[in-house]
Amino acid sequence: MSNASAEHQALHHGLTIVHTALRRSLDTVVTTASRPVPEADRAGFADFCERTARFVRAHHDSEEEIFFPVFEKAGMADQIKTWRGDHTALLDELDQLDAAIVAFKARGDAEKLVASATRVRDHLFPHLDAEEAALSLGVLQKAVTAEQAAALATAASKHGQKHVGTRGLMLFLHALTAEEQRSHFGKMPWFVRKVLVPIWDRNWRPCAKYAHNATIAL
Ligand SMILES: [Fe+2]
Ligand SMILES: [Fe+2]
Repeated sequence: MSNASAEHQALHHGLTIVHTALRRSLDTVVTTASRPVPEADRAGFADFCERTARFVRAHHDSEEEIFFPVFEKAGMADQIKTWRGDHTALLDELDQLDAAIVAFKARGDAEKLVASATRVRDHLFPHLDAEEAALSLGVLQKAVTAEQAAALATAASKHGQKHVGTRGLMLFLHALTAEEQRSHFGKMPWFVRKVLVPIWDRNWRPCAKYAHNATIAL
């Protein structure tokens, strides 16, 4: 690990920390939906669920569009085939989760929400574990050059900006500890960290009580 370039380390860190945010957010969906949700919290919790489901989809899309083709060329074709299959299976479950969120939002029926979110979690978490186990820092070093690693991280960031947007960014940030926020987002321009993020954070208020971390430490 000591001879890994900063670019490889950043790429590895980025891939892992997204998974951390996904796990925490989905855990919160399942745990919260499993208990009675007060009527006054329905819209806010539905908002949190929508952001989480969209974040999962966007993460899979970014892997398929940006990362998987590179890893396939690097000799990991069999592994990637399995992961593409996982994504396809998860898509169907995410469709069911989306429908359950719509129903919950309209009628407050949490049963299907718990069931579908639990199914997504049961299949997503082992998938994330497998990706992390296979895409170690050492494997990334062998698979891509430092320049490619930097290009992949940049492409993933742009994909996130386009497909997750500021609503997803706030979910991501609030799913991280202060140290994790700084480690992944600390190099964003001052204007973004100090001016734009506090503005974007206003749209997070309905979801605030479901945050892993209520504050932004950038
Ligand atoms: Fe994946
Ligand atoms: Fe992943």
